[in-house]
Amino acid sequence: MFILNNSNPVPLYKQLYNQIKEHILSGKLPADTRLPSVRNMATELSASRNTVDGAYQELYAEGYLYSKPRSGYFVSALDQDVAPEVVSVKPGKNDYLPGPPSNFTYDFHPARLDPESFPTELWRKCFVESIRRNGKQLVQYGDTQGDWGLRCSIQSYLERSRGVLCDPDQIVICAGLQQSLEIVSNILKTNHSVVAVENPGYHLPRSVFQSHSYSIVPVPVEPGGINIKHLKASNSTIVYVTPSHQLPLGYVMPVANRLALIEWAESGDKYVIEDDYDSELRYHGKPIPSLQGLRPTGNIIYSGTFSKLLSPALRLSYMVLPYSLLAVYRQIYRDYFPSVSLLEQRTMTAFMEQGHWERHIRRMRMIYKKKHDILLQSVETHFGKRAVVVGQGAGLHVVLMLPETSHSETEILGRAQQKGIRLFPFSDFHVTGKPEATTLLLGFGGMSSSDIERGIAVLSQVC
Ligand SMILES: Cc1ncc(COP(=O)(O)O)c(C=O)c1O
Repeated sequence: MFILNNSNPVPLYKQLYNQIKEHILSGKLPADTRLPSVRNMATELSASRNTVDGAYQELYAEGYLYSKPRSGYFVSALDQDVAPEVVSVKPGKNDYLPGPPSNFTYDFHPARLDPESFPTELWRKCFVESIRRNGKQLVQYGDTQGDWGLRCSIQSYLERSRGVLCDPDQIVICAGLQQSLEIVSNILKTNHSVVAVENPGYHLPRSVFQSHSYSIVPVPVEPGGINIKHLKASNSTIVYVTPSHQLPLGYVMPVANRLALIEWAESGDKYVIEDDYDSELRYHGKPIPSLQGLRPTGNIIYSGTFSKLLSPALRLSYMVLPYSLLAVYRQIYRDYFPSVSLLEQRTMTAFMEQGHWERHIRRMRMIYKKKHDILLQSVETHFGKRAVVVGQGAGLHVVLMLPETSHSETEILGRAQQKGIRLFPFSDFHVTGKPEATTLLLGFGGMSSSDIERGIAVLSQVC
């Protein structure tokens, strides 16, 4: 009558509890029906007695069953008219969660990291240390703005590696860019309503600001980054930019344009949001220092993440607020609790303090440089003059322009899919307009070197 499923994440006793409860509520098990003994039910279900006993005890405690000494458990009489309705939860598709991994042989999605790259052993060691050392802190809420130790470690890392100048006081630990932008939307909404974004550019900031009722102004991107003239001509008072590695085109904003952007922000109560998401991954030449470092006292909100080098699943990122926004941030968020687990924050602190983070970055840079170089070599071999590569030399993706192809992006994506290749549509980055030539985005982080070579060879046949 009852079926328990070992591969279901719901505990077995709970599965049995749910099924018996449903039978009682729907009248399939009428009042005063005697349930099989714990031992018989366990044998019938090939389950342990603990499983059955756990289910019976819970049903008894909630009044669905009553017991008679030496006779066992019986179904209680429930008034069917007032009994809660049975809602059967059918396993269905949840559109909000990513589906099961698809069977792509070659996955060029730009947000994939190397599958072997997570430093499991070191992370485990730091995690265990954090549990041992922080027992007393684990029984209370932490600081909303983020753990002080982690903020200090991030501050000194940012100063050394990105030229960001700030106090730990200005750092807010977040669970990803989306949360940072939610906070920014909230703290700026009294005096601001229009946000400029790069076009083409990352879609997430657009949707966060739109959901907070801001209007979005797309501003064209050029090899020098966002077009400052267009920005100045717009009525926006906030701009979101990726100046050190423009997403998706990979351009680096030159210092003259950075200064112009800073000036724009200073020409009134305006703000630049600098998303420095993957600038540790620069393979040739020197890393480009942050825009924030050029004017640490300016109206610049700096955002960084551990998603690109360590793990996007951890949900660990940070933002540096200018002093001018700290008071309003604290006022709005003073009743909030932190959204990142203290254990995760302390683990990250230990990981940074013990030097693992910077060693990890060096290791990742080598791994991804190799994949990046193989990708470029393969494009050269298989596409030759048919493709123009844009935005190479950094990050986890490059852009391929195909001026000679007669196929549209949709056709190429479809043809590629038939050959087992997954491509992220470049057109998704466009708010308005489209590129002059068919353009593809090739993420290489999650692929092995040999799959990159083979994937590019196959891709070249469908373009
Ligand atoms: C431009 C950009 N910024 C930030 C992120 C990282 O966001 P998060 O910290 O939410 O993982 C990504 C991830 O793909 C990105 O593409």
